[in-house]
Amino acid sequence: MKTKLKIANDEGIKEAAYIIKNYGLVAFPTETVYGLGANALCERSAGKIFEAKGRPADNPLIVHVSSIDMLTGVVESIPEYAYKLIEKFWPGPITLIFKKKSIIPDFVSGGLNTIGVRIPNNRTALELIKEAGVPIAAPSANTSGKPSPTTAAHVMMDLDGKIDMVLDGGNCVFGLESTIVDLSGDASVLLRPGAITVEMLEEAIGQITIQTELLKSDDAPKSPGMKYKHYSPNAKLTIIKCKNSNRIIDFIKQKADANFKKSAVIATEESLYSYKAAGLNAYALSAEGLFATLRKIDDDKVEEAYVHSIEESGIGLAIMNRLKKAADSNIIDLDS
Ligand code: TXA
Ligand code: MG
Repeated sequence: MKTKLKIANDEGIKEAAYIIKNYGLVAFPTETVYGLGANALCERSAGKIFEAKGRPADNPLIVHVSSIDMLTGVVESIPEYAYKLIEKFWPGPITLIFKKKSIIPDFVSGGLNTIGVRIPNNRTALELIKEAGVPIAAPSANTSGKPSPTTAAHVMMDLDGKIDMVLDGGNCVFGLESTIVDLSGDASVLLRPGAITVEMLEEAIGQITIQTELLKSDDAPKSPGMKYKHYSPNAKLTIIKCKNSNRIIDFIKQKADANFKKSAVIATEESLYSYKAAGLNAYALSAEGLFATLRKIDDDKVEEAYVHSIEESGIGLAIMNRLKKAADSNIIDLDS
């Protein structure tokens, strides 16, 4: 299949909507990451998403809508307090999980009786949903297991030849996938941290339960995506906890001498200079740039990458959540 790459102008969006209406796949920008979209009401269309990404069939898709009317068309009921989150954060980078209506095929929800929905805050995404006239199911537009795409070029790297079209709308503003909150049970549960932070959620609806990491005993995790390999660069990634950056520099140099591998360090802007000054191959760590950096270290043929851990509060919780998955929980604590 030839994948068309089109600028996200009115003409591009019209053509993309035509493809969605005719069972095709279109990757499109959102404010978080690029999504791989198909008609969420159609099993045949959604099936193609799983095939193109190599996604396990039990990993449900997020449904993107452009209005509350469209939301009520796909979910069974909306608890009163959900409106506090909807009013405050939509359109925006937060997905809410509700009991689903049967109009959403079980295939789309990975066999669950719930569905994650969001109204994205991106003009192209909203126009595309309106023009297609149907809710659009869209996981991140990467090959399963790879870092999520934050540019059209990242999407092409993974899916060229496998999907009908990529709408190029430039860089994604947030660069991390949406916060996910499950509202389908008695308590509200945070399943994936993101740009809408725990602090912001609790200010809106009071205390929430946090369940963003897989429990050892979890055969059936609340969010099926938790159990799959994620965001993995080819390089071996290690998270380093340490208060003293000189100790980290010594550690990485020692490792590099012992292993004869091309190594790199990933760290926040403030400490980047000291790593560079010490002669290390250093890359910047930020929410918006995290996935691009993970792809870049592969382009640069880095074999061992070390990332300086950050505090798990605010947006730091989301960044560390993605890093732990990318590092397959490979963490070294130099302070202990
Ligand atoms: O920002 C985002 O959310 C992006 C853009 C494209 O909207 N989408 C995205 O989708 O990140 P995806 O498929 O890469 O991640 C969705 C996650 C998966 O881990 C999945 O298991 C979980 O959401 N999920 C989806 N529906 C669920 C449900 N009903 N219950 C629990 N977890 C669910
Ligand atoms: Mg994903």
